[in-house]
Amino acid sequence: MSDLNAAKSGTFKIGGELQVTRLGFGAMRITGKGIWGEPADRHEALRTLKRVPELGIDFIDTADSYGPDVSEELIREALHPYGKTVIATKGGLTRTGPDRWIPVGRPEYLIQQAHKSLRQLGVDRIDLWQLHRIDPKVPAAEQFDAVKSLIDAGIIRFAGLSEVSVAQIEEASKYFPVATVQNQYNLVDRKSEAVLAYCEKHDIGFIPWHPLAAGNLAKPGSVLDTIAHKHNAAPSQIALAWVLKRSPVMLPIPGTSKVKHLEENVAGVNIDLSEEDFAALDAAGRV
Ligand SMILES: NC(=O)c1ccc[n+]([C@@H]2O[C@H](COP(=O)([O-])OP(=O)(O)OC[C@H]3O[C@@H](n4cnc5c(N)ncnc54)[C@H](OP(=O)(O)O)[C@@H]3O)[C@@H](O)[C@H]2O)c1
Repeated sequence: MSDLNAAKSGTFKIGGELQVTRLGFGAMRITGKGIWGEPADRHEALRTLKRVPELGIDFIDTADSYGPDVSEELIREALHPYGKTVIATKGGLTRTGPDRWIPVGRPEYLIQQAHKSLRQLGVDRIDLWQLHRIDPKVPAAEQFDAVKSLIDAGIIRFAGLSEVSVAQIEEASKYFPVATVQNQYNLVDRKSEAVLAYCEKHDIGFIPWHPLAAGNLAKPGSVLDTIAHKHNAAPSQIALAWVLKRSPVMLPIPGTSKVKHLEENVAGVNIDLSEEDFAALDAAGRV
């Protein structure tokens, strides 16, 4: 195995069955500004995607709304047929312009979008489909029923949720097995600690988005800065190493449009944080 390989992050079985390497790749950043339209450098975006499996990453997160469509289309162009790589996508957010995201959870829309993702990605079944948001304008039961119907019809294999509370996971679990939860989580954004604890207890994969953030902790002279210097690492690599060590159900999906950044992120799995440094970062991040 090359020294630059995500395999060192260990593995997790989605839904207790589908094994992936814990360090994944987020494919939101391979689109244009405001997650809208084509990327500024299409060639580099495709080069980045092709480098993903070469670095031992076999879990890619995308969504119908990234672009929209652009992310799924580029993934297909770069990587189809996918071999062992699991492509997880999402549905339930519409796009009315750059940086604009509006939930639509009407069952017929969710079902249509899952069919579209299936065709766009060129697969017989989507390994993991996530409800991008629970739409507050539509009864949750109708949205969860739609997800169940997609599983029953064999359109999707496993289903997940995004930006949810423990109560919402419990409610959705009455309709279908919740295989993953994707909430914003990083060293300095710990709002989802209770959700993470629930996921650990129930062996649900926890997919932290925005995992590289270190906020003010990256300032010169901070705990994180000191630890980064000790490891000769970037603050974002330490933030990622911390997230990976935080829990065995953690499946971070750092995203980038550049090969150089992808390689730097993968190198983060080689950083072995001591228990002492982990605890110091944990305490600083909670403040
Ligand atoms: N479920 C949800 O609601 C939700 C919301 C947001 C995101 N997501 C998912 O989570 C993934 C990750 O989230 P994210 O993109 O917001 O956060 P992130 O992965 O923590 O950070 C990505 C940002 O950091 C930059 N970056 C990446 N690696 C870098 C490096 N080594 N050095 C310097 N800059 C670097 C990227 O720009 P460059 O392209 O210039 O590298 C990009 O601007 C997304 O791709 C998407 O799949 C989900």
